[in-house]
Amino acid sequence: MEKADDAGVYKLTDDLAIVQTVDFFTPIVDDPYTFGQIAVANALSDVYAMGGKPLTAMNIVCFPSKTLDISVLRDILRGGIDKLREAGVVLVGGHSVDDSELKYGLSVTGTVHPKKVLTKGGAKPGDQLILTKPLGTGIINTAVKARMAGERVIETVAQSMAALNKTASEVMLQVGVNACTDITGFGLLGHACEMIQDSQVGLKIRSVSVPIFPETLGLARVGMIPGGTYRNKEFRAKMVDSAGVGDIMMDILFDPQTSGGLFMSVSADKAGLLLAKLKEAGVTDAAIVGEVVGHPRERIVVE
Ligand code: CO
Ligand code: CO
Ligand code: CO
Repeated sequence: MEKADDAGVYKLTDDLAIVQTVDFFTPIVDDPYTFGQIAVANALSDVYAMGGKPLTAMNIVCFPSKTLDISVLRDILRGGIDKLREAGVVLVGGHSVDDSELKYGLSVTGTVHPKKVLTKGGAKPGDQLILTKPLGTGIINTAVKARMAGERVIETVAQSMAALNKTASEVMLQVGVNACTDITGFGLLGHACEMIQDSQVGLKIRSVSVPIFPETLGLARVGMIPGGTYRNKEFRAKMVDSAGVGDIMMDILFDPQTSGGLFMSVSADKAGLLLAKLKEAGVTDAAIVGEVVGHPRERIVVE
C-alpha cells in the first residue's frame, strides 16, 4: 500500500492473488440504463488496469425512494447486469440505502497472478505511452448540463464511457507492458503524474497525438470546464511543464474523465505491435501519445 494504485491486491497463494476495488457515483447521463452500464464499466476498469480478471461484483445503491420512481432504479440495475454479463462477471449481491441523492456503483473482485500485477510504477526510459479512449468526458458533460453539446457527440461520449476496458486489457496482457493505469477523475496528466511520482523517470506528452472527442476543443474555449479540472491542475502544477501548449489544451489534458481509457507504458520495440493489435481488436481510438524519458525525472513535459 506504500504507493497509490488502481486496486488492492492480496496474495492467496504463490500463483493466485485477489484484486479488489470499489467505485460509485451520482448519475453522469440522463438515461438510467446507460448510467448503469457506465457505472459497471467504470468499476471494472481498475481491475483491468491492474492486469486482473474481474470475477464477481456487488451492487452499491443509494436511492431517493420518496422522490424517484422505482422503475428508474430497475433500469439502472438492468443496465448494470447487462454490462456485467458482457464482461463475464457474476453479480453476487449488493446493498441499498435510502438517500436524498441517487448513487450507483459496485465493489468488484477479480484475480491476478501475483507476479503479473501491473502497477503504475514500472515505466522505463524509452517506453512509448498508449492511451485507449479519447479525452473530454468532463467538458462534454459540463456542456450537456448547459445544453451546449450536440446530440451526436453526447451519444459518442456515452458509448465510450460505457465501453469496457476488457479488450484493451487482454491485448495489453498478450503483448506485455511495463506499467498501466486507467484515466479517471484526475485527468490524463493527473494519472500520468501518479505513474512517475517517486520514480527515476519523467514523461513527454505530445498533445497533438492525444485522441480527443469532437467538439471538445470548441466547448473548452467557451468555458465549459468542470471545476475538477482546476483542482487537478493546481494539485500537479509543480510536476508539469506546459510552456509548449496553450491553456485550453491543458484544460483538456487535466479534464476529469468518467470511465476513461487505459494508459499504458510499453517498451518501444512492442509499441507498434500493441497499437496494431488494439486497433484490430476494436479499440480504434488507441494512440501513442508520448514517451518515457530518463530526465527530467518526476516531471511531465507537454509539447
Ligand atoms: Co483507477
Ligand atoms: Co477507482
Ligand atoms: Co448483509
